[in-house]
Amino acid sequence: MTLIAGNWKMYKGPAEAAAFCRELRQADLPADVDVVVCPSFTSLAEAVQALAGTEIGVFAQNCHWAAEGAFTGEVSAPMLQELGVYGTLVGHSERRQWFGETDELVARRVHACLEAGLHVIACVGETEEEREAGATHKVLRRQVASLEADDNLVIAYEPIWAIGTGRTATPEMAEEAHQSIKELIDVPMLYGGSVKPENAAELLAQPSIDGALVGGASLDVASFAAICGAAVS
Ligand code: PGA
Repeated sequence: MTLIAGNWKMYKGPAEAAAFCRELRQADLPADVDVVVCPSFTSLAEAVQALAGTEIGVFAQNCHWAAEGAFTGEVSAPMLQELGVYGTLVGHSERRQWFGETDELVARRVHACLEAGLHVIACVGETEEEREAGATHKVLRRQVASLEADDNLVIAYEPIWAIGTGRTATPEMAEEAHQSIKELIDVPMLYGGSVKPENAAELLAQPSIDGALVGGASLDVASFAAICGAAVS
């Protein structure tokens, strides 16, 4: 399995999302690579509509653990499924850093989303200070400790110091982190953090890297399609 997921973060409203997806439909994407886009909540319906009848999946960027309830500002799995959304990111480092997501909340979201039938990309990764202190493995172990393997679960390793910084982990660093996580939980693993068309092939050639979670470089159809293409070469 090779999966390339584009995390749009808080970019692209409904009109831009629809235009992007219409263009992506026309792009030359490899048949044996699973391709997913993760628009913001307001753009999900347009993305689903614009990609209808294609193999390209639409994922949300977050999802609550309850099916419904008094949780102002949150969105549930059944609400996403009603729109035709196929899966969701959970525990992205920006959620952890800015919105108080803890390992426990992440695990709750992951578990409930899987139960509801959504596919899940759960994100983990260490900060620069943690890496420098030699704590990378300890942090990754803690982050995956509350997750259980599931056919619909994928883990994305995203070292926080590599996200949006242009500083990619070396293929060897990423491979080592992936191997250490796979010893704990046997699920496919994506690398994320400044993945670009120029570095994607080398990263994706590593045996324990099963795909990529792409932020900035997924916002442009040509560069996103080039990364999907690099997954087979
Ligand atoms: P980046 O973001 O590719 O812009 O570094 C990756 C992510 O945050 O998922």
